[in-house]
Amino acid sequence: MKSIVVIWSVISFFLAATTSEAAPTALPKGYSNWKKSERKVNTDKSSLFYGIHYIYADKKAERGYLADNKFAEGSRIVVESFSIKGSPAVDGPKNMIVLMQKDKRQTATGGWLFAGFGVDGKPSGLDPVTTCFGCHQKDAAGRDFVISTKKDFKF
Ligand code: HEC
Repeated sequence: MKSIVVIWSVISFFLAATTSEAAPTALPKGYSNWKKSERKVNTDKSSLFYGIHYIYADKKAERGYLADNKFAEGSRIVVESFSIKGSPAVDGPKNMIVLMQKDKRQTATGGWLFAGFGVDGKPSGLDPVTTCFGCHQKDAAGRDFVISTKKDFKF
């Protein structure tokens, strides 16, 4: 009986390892302590970011912004998006969180992993190639596919 337990825990270990390989897209813990952008208000209703949002950059991404958008492997950038309420606009409820993580294996999306999350932090399953990469490729091909710049932060 004991050996069955041991074998099962070995199997579950590998299952868990495989799952995290296939979906390395958990929302990073503690991103709200990262470098935070200015409050950004977007009133263009056709934009994915219609609403109010804040960008968070980890240490590596901070250095990437300071180097005029040249990001090292592993850099992570998170955007928290809120709906607009009233006029003048105040932050409504949070409605979306997105992540870009520099990962050279993601050759179809410019060497970045793109992932979207619901407000509960669970992956929303949006397809990175068809849902995300288009705008970033169009707007920021010369800036490592990162549309925001150091001007969006107070350094
Ligand atoms: C409609 C065009 C569009 C689509 C589609 C889009 N983005 Fe963006 N994204 C933008 C724009 C514009 C910004 C810059 C916002 C700013 O400067 O405040 C941005 C910024 C970001 C940022 C912050 C870093 C940067 O590039 O400035 C992340 C992270 C991000 N998007 C992830 C995603 C993910 C993940 C998806 C797919 C779920 C996605 N985006 C789809 C237009 C888009």
